[in-house]
Amino acid sequence: MTRLQIKPGIDAVGAIDWDRRLFDSLIPLPDGTSYNSYLIRGSEKTALIDTVDPPMDMVLTGNLDDLKVEQIDYVICNHAEQDHAGSIPLILDLYPEAKVVCTPKCKGMLIDLLHLDEGVFMTVDDGDTLSLGNKTLEFIHAPWVHWPETMVCYLREDKILFSCDFFGSHLAQSALYVQDECQVYESAKRYFGEIMMPFRANIKKNMERLKSYSIELIAPSHGPVYDRPQFILDAYRSWVYDEPRNMVLLPYVSMHGSTKEMVDHLVGALIERGVNVRQFDLTVADPGKIAIALVDSATLVLGTCTVLGGAHPLAANAVFLANALRPNLKFASIIGSFGWGGRTIEQITGMLTNIKPEVLPPVYIKGNPAEADFASLDSLAETIAQKHRENGYK
Ligand code: FEO
Repeated sequence: MTRLQIKPGIDAVGAIDWDRRLFDSLIPLPDGTSYNSYLIRGSEKTALIDTVDPPMDMVLTGNLDDLKVEQIDYVICNHAEQDHAGSIPLILDLYPEAKVVCTPKCKGMLIDLLHLDEGVFMTVDDGDTLSLGNKTLEFIHAPWVHWPETMVCYLREDKILFSCDFFGSHLAQSALYVQDECQVYESAKRYFGEIMMPFRANIKKNMERLKSYSIELIAPSHGPVYDRPQFILDAYRSWVYDEPRNMVLLPYVSMHGSTKEMVDHLVGALIERGVNVRQFDLTVADPGKIAIALVDSATLVLGTCTVLGGAHPLAANAVFLANALRPNLKFASIIGSFGWGGRTIEQITGMLTNIKPEVLPPVYIKGNPAEADFASLDSLAETIAQKHRENGYK
């Protein structure tokens, strides 16, 4: 069993998923993840905050057995997504007297997703409280982190914020609290880039809202608990508020080497001009690493060869993902080569509808790059460096 006590009467009873390697059939999880669930036993009532992904429901119920939990009065559902809500039906089977506490919007989603009966719900408005006797939960609606129905809850007496996906990290570890802030920083940034970044404006609003709370612990629904909450609050603040960095993200795909030759030249030219670069070969790249780079890159340069008159599908996929994640990119360009023609430039620039970056002159050439093409790449590097300087990107 994997239960761990946070404080007397407050236990982490969720599941560590050491072996999971893909989330949403999209997101690589190099370090696994966890589905955190928290049991709060007040002097009068008992609440379970969130459940676990259904394939691991026996870990949750085993932990509850272990703690000899005979009654659960409330199942707090912060978020309807299945990795947290999916085991609610099992909990209701085992504890039929429990009420599911959630936002009105979440109630509708849980009915759609889990076919729960109307009668099991107790909806709460923003700011409502729920007494467990000697412990009080306050519900804070936090829409769009990252679904519209989400809320977080604050345990007043113990100053614990149960934040669900907000501030989460995909990281399996046996210890309850953060052990290595550098490791968690990368996991949390991967999580932010892939899940939270499209909702940066909403995240800002919710961050502002939390400023008035005294928070000693942040207990998210993925990854370790933060016993130094300022660490993750500062990280989020920089990801949400800061200007992008003096950084070019350069994902590329090359079939016969000419595009790669252009990539190598451009990367060298950027480095010479003091611009940082993150280069990814799209045939092997981890999309999570690209999402991390998107959090703070100012410029995207896509390197792509031409396939059947357009961009290579791997390049199109990377741009589709980048556009969906709505990063704070300011500039974009395309480099690559073609054999006899194609519509790659129009295709790729037409895909950047959410981001609308300033498109810098592409360097898209026929055949292998020659001297004039390398000069064009130098010119592109110079333009990028100048744009970054003008905007004060560090
Ligand atoms: Fe961890 Fe949005 O579910």
